[in-house]
Amino acid sequence: INKIGVLTSGGDAPGMNAAIRAVVRSCAFHGVECAGIFRGYQGLIEGDIEELNARSVKNVISRGGTFLKSARSKEFMTKEGRQKAYDHIKKSGLDALVVIGGDGTFTGGLIFNSEFNFPIIGIPATIDNDIKGTDYTIGYDTALNTVVEAIDKIRDTASSHNRLFLVEVMGRDAGDIALNSGIGAGAEEILIPEENTGVDRLIDSLKKSKKSGKTSSIIVVAEGDKSGKNIFELAEFIEENLDDYEIRVSVLGHIQRGGSPSCYDRVLASKLGVGAVDALLNGESNIMVGIHHQQVVSVPLKTAIQGGAKFDKNLRRVADITSI
Ligand code: F6P
Repeated sequence: INKIGVLTSGGDAPGMNAAIRAVVRSCAFHGVECAGIFRGYQGLIEGDIEELNARSVKNVISRGGTFLKSARSKEFMTKEGRQKAYDHIKKSGLDALVVIGGDGTFTGGLIFNSEFNFPIIGIPATIDNDIKGTDYTIGYDTALNTVVEAIDKIRDTASSHNRLFLVEVMGRDAGDIALNSGIGAGAEEILIPEENTGVDRLIDSLKKSKKSGKTSSIIVVAEGDKSGKNIFELAEFIEENLDDYEIRVSVLGHIQRGGSPSCYDRVLASKLGVGAVDALLNGESNIMVGIHHQQVVSVPLKTAIQGGAKFDKNLRRVADITSI
């Protein structure tokens, strides 16, 4: 392998820059050329490709987002789009690709590999932590800290006004952010996509906590929760069934995806970036480099895209006990 291309695709995540930096510098270390592809697979289709050297990635380790930009390319989902991408790969002399992103990114990589037998290595980066085979994805730790900081602030005002706050956090299909930030920020209730605990239980629990002397409450709701109601409908439902509280809704939204990456995410991204280049130089392909018990591991891309399944039932118990 003489030249490696690197791209970021799908929703961005803090630490993507640190991962690109590690790939680029690892290439420099091994005397392999490196090229950055802008806007994910779309940039590959359009030939938006630039040579990168060790100095091209100076001062990026602390920056959120991705300087290579990201996109969800519809065209790459077509055979014609992927053919154009392959043509640009040949033109640029790339021998392998490191794709940084989540399940959509890996699915694209897998299809591309099956059509052109082109070496692909994935690096998991998404705030959702919903990739199988890795204990953590890049960006998740930073997002958790952002959410906890935001909920701490909401708690100040909730408590001053004796209010109940519903706080929506990201996680279309995975409750990792909600469950962990909820415990970390001391939420009274946490609603996640992995289980439907029912709105009646919610009302019961809020009644109980009021009786036990609580004067304000925080409910963390993952955007993909299974109550069957969106957060505003949920607020109305609670208002109708509980007179004790004034209710407010706060949707945290995309602030969860931004910001300077935590030290944990920077180190994780650095380990996985180095691991990705090592894997390619060892002849591996069609795998994701993940982290398991602090060690870099190789996981088939096919496995990685099978969903998170990280939901830890014990965490629910911990949440219930500590919010009594
Ligand atoms: O990054 C993952 C994620 O945060 C999901 O939890 C969320 O539903 C989605 O991205 C929203 O992303 P976008 O606004 O870019 O479509």
